[in-house]
Amino acid sequence: MAEPINDARTAPVAVWQMLSGLKGDALKAWRLAETQGRASVAERGLDIPYPFGWYPALLSSELAIGEVKPLRYFGRDLVIWRGEDGQARMLDAYCKHLGAHMGYGGKVDGNNLECPFHAWRYDETGVVREIPYAKTIPPQVKRPCAHQWPVAEANRWLMFWYHPDGTAPQWEVQHFAETTDPEWSEYEISEWNVWGSIQNMAENGVDVAHFKYVHGTASFPDYKLSWDGIRREAAVDAKMGTPRGEVDGRIAFGSTGPGQSWTRFTGISETLLVACITPIDKDHVQARFCFTQPKLQAEGEGAGLARALIRDICKQFDQDKVIWDRQRYLPDAVICDGDGPIAHFRRYYRQFYAEWAGDGDATPLRPVTMERSRG
Ligand code: FES
Ligand SMILES: [Fe+2]
Repeated sequence: MAEPINDARTAPVAVWQMLSGLKGDALKAWRLAETQGRASVAERGLDIPYPFGWYPALLSSELAIGEVKPLRYFGRDLVIWRGEDGQARMLDAYCKHLGAHMGYGGKVDGNNLECPFHAWRYDETGVVREIPYAKTIPPQVKRPCAHQWPVAEANRWLMFWYHPDGTAPQWEVQHFAETTDPEWSEYEISEWNVWGSIQNMAENGVDVAHFKYVHGTASFPDYKLSWDGIRREAAVDAKMGTPRGEVDGRIAFGSTGPGQSWTRFTGISETLLVACITPIDKDHVQARFCFTQPKLQAEGEGAGLARALIRDICKQFDQDKVIWDRQRYLPDAVICDGDGPIAHFRRYYRQFYAEWAGDGDATPLRPVTMERSRG
């Protein structure tokens, strides 16, 4: 009997082998299906806080004016709507009156959200502005919600700010000119459910050794990494095999906080990947990769190469997912000298855990650049 491809008790090497035969809709279905038989959140050490920052919720095109949608992120039920003024707004989903979920059947009234149960109307701060059948609004619901969910629109995405205390954004969302440039293609999107931790996923890029054992690269890549406050960047030079022989490729990665990251590929084919990765629950992360390329290239004679590059990036993510779906989060991981700067990554990442502020090493992280080359 074939081993189940969506079961955590199937060995990664067996899953990778089965994956090499999956294509099209079957591959898409595998990426989204729940991984069965995985150990509990507690056993996997995943009951840790969520890091704060800006995170993607929906594509801008997925929320029209007057539309209301339910969302679930950060272990909370949420509601998002777009007012008549075109602005998107987000609140906790449960109505303060009798607890209806406003994401199912809620309506937009002007710029406010109307609950489907008794038509109480909320503004974007969670203040009840109107109760159509009451003479006075109870004072408890005239106050804004303690947890605010600011929304911003960037790169054809609706981004929202997550902080465990619901406090105001500490930095701005980053915009990429290519994403709204008419010379660049519409997004090509690949989507996954990852049954693991967002921190383990983010660590992957600095985990130099896994490239050989998980992705089968011939050698460990050269890299240059820089870290500065909430930002980090990486440049990797890699020889890439193409139908036209070996090409020098360059991969530039950047992230601003834990929820916004991008990768630019040059060499084979100009490509911008806007990576949209948002935690849903402690062991469940939604990942959407949005690729855009210059239209001339995506539709021109290099189109085949450009598509091959996208397929290869997604294949690497598939391979990593197999590990992440089964992985534990180890706060005191043992790192060896060939591992790449995992310890530094963890110190950088720690700044986004409000709940852990004051624990551990308090010396501020200075801007630093790290390089490794065979040269
Ligand atoms: S439960 Fe929302 S208005 Fe009554
Ligand atoms: Fe990887």
